[in-house]
Amino acid sequence: MADSIDFKDRMLSLGLARVSEAAAFASARLIGRGDEKAADQAAVNAMRDQLNLLDIKGVVVIGEGERDEAPMLFIGEEVGTGDGPAVDIALDPLEGTTLTAKDMPNALTVIAMAPRGTLLHAPDVYMDKLAIGPGYPKDVISLEMSPAERVYELARAGGVEPGDITCCVLERPRHDDLIAEIRSTGASIRLITDGDVAGVIHCAESEITGIDMYMGLGGAPEGVLAASALKCMGGQMWGRLTFRNDDERARAYKAGITDLNRIYARDDMVRADVIFAATGVTNGSIVQGVVREPNFIQTETLLMRSKTGSVRRMIWRNPINRRGHEDN
Ligand code: FBP
Repeated sequence: MADSIDFKDRMLSLGLARVSEAAAFASARLIGRGDEKAADQAAVNAMRDQLNLLDIKGVVVIGEGERDEAPMLFIGEEVGTGDGPAVDIALDPLEGTTLTAKDMPNALTVIAMAPRGTLLHAPDVYMDKLAIGPGYPKDVISLEMSPAERVYELARAGGVEPGDITCCVLERPRHDDLIAEIRSTGASIRLITDGDVAGVIHCAESEITGIDMYMGLGGAPEGVLAASALKCMGGQMWGRLTFRNDDERARAYKAGITDLNRIYARDDMVRADVIFAATGVTNGSIVQGVVREPNFIQTETLLMRSKTGSVRRMIWRNPINRRGHEDN
């Protein structure tokens, strides 16, 4: 059974944190410079360099795109030294390229690792996502319910009024009807301009973030990363791929998906124990962004293991040497 595979998650987790720290550190130089591509590229380069130092036989299953679209960290790329456990890697070197370019909150570097063959190979299409934090009965809400029904059911399960529920939604024209229906229940909405991995994670710490439920369409690759985070933190999540044209359907078939209408629960997207790391690039409600002082730089990383449910927030501080470069 996939769940019994030991992929040395305890030993590898610190290495995973280093990978995400390096990506954040590299992209931080590009915060507020208006150049999404440069910020992303810096994160990609740093993430790949660090990944290749890890003693794993890794394959990127969620990455920067297909081999012909992405020169690095493409889907199918082998990473690591080749000595060590066979693992799947899901990554988003910079989740929130626009947030970084505009110096807006909640840009993160994100990476998850699980035993080989246990992460959903999600194509680069949209996914209809629904997520809540821990503490609710299993399947208390579903993607098959209308948005209003989800609010009513969640409120009932939590013993609160619908007006006490806060939903997080990406601000997009495609969500106009969704937003109107949620508001019709009396619930409030935290609109975000980008970054739905962070949006979903917010549900797992609702006492801090004030967000109870995440809803709406965002990237499917980000969906698998968010499911990895929630598997560590204990929340529930569901996702259904949505397709705008035949090209997108073809991407799904190529990724090995045969049932295009399937609803994936969290554990269908992440079928075994997973480790997850996310480092703040810009300041956010989950972790602080990169701090650059004259003599040192500092990052904060959320590092989690689903096997134990452990959640660490790690500060990495590194001196800047006399030549003005950072020692790694
Ligand atoms: P980038 O990091 O590539 O900019 O993606 C950010 C993001 O907001 C994701 O968090 C989200 O899943 C997706 O883009 C939404 O896509 P779109 O911008 O097409 O609505």
